[in-house]
Amino acid sequence: MAIFQLTINSKEQQVDVAPDTPLLWVLRDHLNLPGTKFGCGIAQCGACTVHLDGNAIRSCSLPVSAVGDAKVTTIEGLSEDGDHPVQQAWLEHDVPQCGYCQAGQIMSAAALLKQNPDPSDEDIQSSMSGNLCRCGTYLRIRKAIKSAANT
Ligand code: FES
Ligand code: FES
Repeated sequence: MAIFQLTINSKEQQVDVAPDTPLLWVLRDHLNLPGTKFGCGIAQCGACTVHLDGNAIRSCSLPVSAVGDAKVTTIEGLSEDGDHPVQQAWLEHDVPQCGYCQAGQIMSAAALLKQNPDPSDEDIQSSMSGNLCRCGTYLRIRKAIKSAANT
């Protein structure tokens, strides 16, 4: 075990865990932030997507020891009260079905729009291709991203 100082959703946090503990489990099991989901555990589905210094990463495959001073943002910290343009667009387009993949989808979409405020269909396809949705909400996701880009 070792002590790690982390900045999560703009708050300083301290955890005492094994260095190879995936960030996902630190968030869910030690910091009570269950919005980030476990899907595959091998960086293949995107359910566990969070931001590390604004970039979308798979928290299931990032050991806590690799986080360092980077700022982590989870779905709980994306906005104060669900008013991020991507979250608003998700509501407007009624995107979720079962909802399981959606926190990861939203985090990937928010990171995409930060880096590319006016993405083409191809940009969206290539940035979002690592986020799987077993309910097939892809068309609504694309529409919502386009709509958020115009706000
Ligand atoms: S749970 Fe991390 S990519 Fe699937
Ligand atoms: S909404 Fe069900 S997995 Fe995406």
